[in-house]
Amino acid sequence: MSGLQIRLSEKLNLKAKTAVIIGAQWGDEGKGKIVDVLSDNFSVVARYAGGHNAGHTVIINGKKFILQLVPCGVLRKDCRGVIGNGVVLDPLAFLDEVGRLRDAGVKVDGNLFVSNRAQVILPYHRMIELAAENAPGRVKIGTTSRGIGPAYEDKMGRRGLRVIDLLDAQLLRTHIENACREKNMIGHALFNSEPIDADKMYAEYSRAAEKIAPYVRDTAALLNRAIADGEPVMFEGAQGTMLDIDHGTYPFVTSSSATSGGVATGTGVPPTAISQVIGVTKAYCTRVGGGPFPSEIGDAVGEQLRKRGNEYGAVTGRPRRCGWLDLPLLRYSNMINGSTWLVVTKLDVLDELAEIPVCIGYKINGKKISEIPADAAGFEKIEPTYETLPGWKQSTVGITDFEKLPARARQYLEFLEGASGGARIAMVSTGPEREQTIFMPDFAREILAREKKAGRQAS
Ligand code: IMP
Repeated sequence: MSGLQIRLSEKLNLKAKTAVIIGAQWGDEGKGKIVDVLSDNFSVVARYAGGHNAGHTVIINGKKFILQLVPCGVLRKDCRGVIGNGVVLDPLAFLDEVGRLRDAGVKVDGNLFVSNRAQVILPYHRMIELAAENAPGRVKIGTTSRGIGPAYEDKMGRRGLRVIDLLDAQLLRTHIENACREKNMIGHALFNSEPIDADKMYAEYSRAAEKIAPYVRDTAALLNRAIADGEPVMFEGAQGTMLDIDHGTYPFVTSSSATSGGVATGTGVPPTAISQVIGVTKAYCTRVGGGPFPSEIGDAVGEQLRKRGNEYGAVTGRPRRCGWLDLPLLRYSNMINGSTWLVVTKLDVLDELAEIPVCIGYKINGKKISEIPADAAGFEKIEPTYETLPGWKQSTVGITDFEKLPARARQYLEFLEGASGGARIAMVSTGPEREQTIFMPDFAREILAREKKAGRQAS
C-alpha cells in the first residue's frame, strides 16, 4: 500500500500509538535523553521543527553524543529517524553530523530519512542573520547564528529552496545565482556585508546534494504508512514552548512551531493521529539568549545551579540563565500543548539546597493575573509570587524508584504535579545516563508495555 493510498477510514482507526515530546520551558529541558530512553519503545522518531540550533545531548555508557539535526532515535539500531518538512536543513551541518555519527559506529545509512519538502539553509541566511542581529536599532534576540530565522523567512516568503530542489542541479544553480544577487544587494545596502560568491556556493552545495540524495524521501508518506501499519512513532520537539513563534515570548523566540501543534504541519501527519503529548520540564528553569524570564535568579544561587547543572548551551556554549521552577508557565505550556504527561529532569541538581523557592503565581501592578501576557513588555512587569519548599539535602543521583527518593524530593514532585493543571508525572531524570531514570508505574504500563514492531524498510 503506498502512502497516498491510505484511506481516511484506516487513518481514523489508528493501530499505532504516537507520542510527541515537547519542551515545556525555553528549551534545554533534557528532551534528548528522554527521547533516547523512550525510543526503545518506538519504531520511528521524527523531528518536526527547528534546525541545527537545537542541541540534544545524549550520554550512553559514558559516551557523549550531541545531536543537532538528527533525531535521537537513530542511536537505537532498530529505530528509524526522520527529519520532517518543518525542519530547516543546513546540508553541510547535516553531512558533518551524519559523518560524526557514522564514525562513532551509529547506523545512519538506511535508517535516517530527510523530507524532500524540508527547507534548505544557505550561507546567505547566516550572513543576513549575523548582520541583522548587530544592526543599530534592531532588537537583539541572541540567536544561535545558524541562519534559522532568515531560512524560515524565505520559506514563508515563498522564495526558499527545498531539499527536492537542491537535488535538481539546474534549479539549484539558478536559485543560487538569483538569491545571491538579491541577498548580496540587501546585505550591502543594509549592513555593508561582504558579498557571497555564487559559483563557489554552487560547487559546494551541488557536491553536498549528491551525498544527501540517498537520505531523501517523501517522509509524510513514510510516516503515515508506518502509523497505518501499526508502528509506534514518536515526534521529537526541539527548543521549547516559550520559544515557539506563536506562543512564546515574542519576539524573543525561535522562528518555528516548537509546540505540539507543529507536529501536524511539520511532518504531514494529521492531528487526529497524535495520541500522547509528553511535556519535559527541568526541576528548575533556564533560558539562553535574550528575553523575559520571570523566575530568573541572578545571585550566587543561580551560579550554583549553573555549575551543578552544567548549564552551558550545547550548541553555542553560552552560559544559560538560571531560575526557579515557574508553575504558571508550566500550566500555560500544558494548555498550549495538551500535555497529559510530564517528565521532570535534573532533579539531582537541587540536591544540595536547603530551601527551594517555586514560582506559584504572577502579579502585575500588585494584581494577580491568570493569563500569560502576550507582549515582552507585559512579561517584564511580572512580579512572581513564590512558595518556598524545604530541600532534601541528600543525593538523588541515579535513583530509579520513586519510593526511594527522599521524602522531601517526593513532596517537591507532588507539589509540581498538583499545580501543573492536570498533567501527571511520567518520568523523573536523576542523572544524564539512560539508566538514571524513574518510570512512574502508570506511565510505564501505558507506554512501555507496548510491543514495538520491527522496523520495515522505507521505500
Ligand atoms: P534561533 O533559533 O537561532 O533563531 O534563536 C532564537 C532564540 O532561541 C535564541 O534566544 C536562542 O538562544 C534560542 N534557542 C534556539 N535554539 C535553542 C535550543 O535548542 N535551546 C535553547 N534555546 C534555543
